[in-house]
Amino acid sequence: MKSPKSITIRRPDDWHVHLRDGDMLAAVAPLTAKQFKRAIVMPNLVPPVTTVKAAVDYRARILAALPGDTSFEPLMTCYLTDSAEPDEIAAGFEENVFTAVKLYPANATTNSDAGVTEIRNVYGVLERMEKIGMPLLLHGETTVHNGEEVDVFDREKLFIDRTLAPLIEDFPGLKIVFEHITTRSAAVFVAEAPATVAATVTPHHLIINRNAIFRGGIRPHMYCLPIAKRERDRLALCKAVTSGNAKFFLGTDTAPHPVHAKESACGCAGIFTAASALELYAEVFDEEGALNKFEAFASLNGPAFYGLPVNEETITLVQGETIVPEAVSAGGETVKPFRAGETLAWFVQE
Ligand code: DOR
Ligand code: ZN
Repeated sequence: MKSPKSITIRRPDDWHVHLRDGDMLAAVAPLTAKQFKRAIVMPNLVPPVTTVKAAVDYRARILAALPGDTSFEPLMTCYLTDSAEPDEIAAGFEENVFTAVKLYPANATTNSDAGVTEIRNVYGVLERMEKIGMPLLLHGETTVHNGEEVDVFDREKLFIDRTLAPLIEDFPGLKIVFEHITTRSAAVFVAEAPATVAATVTPHHLIINRNAIFRGGIRPHMYCLPIAKRERDRLALCKAVTSGNAKFFLGTDTAPHPVHAKESACGCAGIFTAASALELYAEVFDEEGALNKFEAFASLNGPAFYGLPVNEETITLVQGETIVPEAVSAGGETVKPFRAGETLAWFVQE
C-alpha cells in the first residue's frame, strides 16, 4: 500500500532530553520546545539537580531560554545519589516540581560520578516512591561486576539480570522506565515485564547499529551511551516501537556536546537529535509500514504511563524532503546534529 502523504497526530512529548545550561540551553531548548509539548528533562548538570530548589531554579532557566509565548512544559527530574533523602524527593513530587527520579549507576555515563554506587543504598527512597506513585527512570547499564569491568556491549544485558529483574521483584508497585533501550534482550524483557515497567527508545537506536560508529574510520558523532548494538538489536527495537505495545514510548535522549568535545582523543557520549527528532522517527515508522502506530508511540503511551493528560493540540508531518542543519550554534561553539546535512523524507508542517 502506498504511504499516506501526511499524518496528523496529537502533539508529541519527549520523555528523555538533555537541555544542559547556559549558552547550550539557550541554543537547544527552543528546538525541543518547537517539536514537543512536554519533555522530561535530565538532571545530569554539574552539579547535578538533587534538590527541589535546584529543580525550581533550573526550570526557570529553561523557560527563560524560550520565546515568551511558549506553551512548552519542562518536566523536571531529581538526580538520585546514595545519600538522597526520601522526604526531599517526596516533597518535590507533591509540590509538582519533580515528575520523576533519575538513577544513573555511578560512572556509567556523562556526569554520573555522583550516581548510585549500590542499589541497596537507595532502597529507602524507592520504597517511598513506590508508595506515592513516583516513576523511577533508569540508565540501565552495569559497568563493573565482581570487581571486573563489564564489556561495553554487554552492560545493558547485565543490568537487566543483576539489577532490573530483582528491582521489579522487590518493588512490584514501583513505576519504572528503562530508558533508551538498545538491545533485543531489553525489548523482549520489557514486553514481558509487569505493567509497571516501560521503556523509551531513541531515534538513533532505531536507525544505526554499531557498524555506524566505525564506518571507514571512527565516527564520534555516532557515539552515545548505551552504545548502539548489533543489527538484530536495531531490528528488534523497530519491531517493538511499531508493535502497538503501550510500554514503548518516545524519548530522544538528545544529548548535545560542542563539536570539539566530540571530535577529540576522548570524545563525549551523546547524539544530538533535537532539531529533527520527529522527522527521524517518522521515517522509521514509515519504512516499517507502521505510520498508524506513530501517534501511540509519540503522543499517547508516555502520558498514559506517567498518568498525565494527553495533549490537545495536533501537529502534521508531511512526506517531503528536508535537510538536517549542518550545525547549530551555541554561544561561541557549534553542535553537530545527527545526520547533519543529510536529506530526510518527512518534515513537520509549520
Ligand atoms: O550518550 C549519552 N549522553 N548517554 C547518556 O546517558 C548521557 C548523555 C549526556 O548527558 O551527554
Ligand atoms: Zn540521557
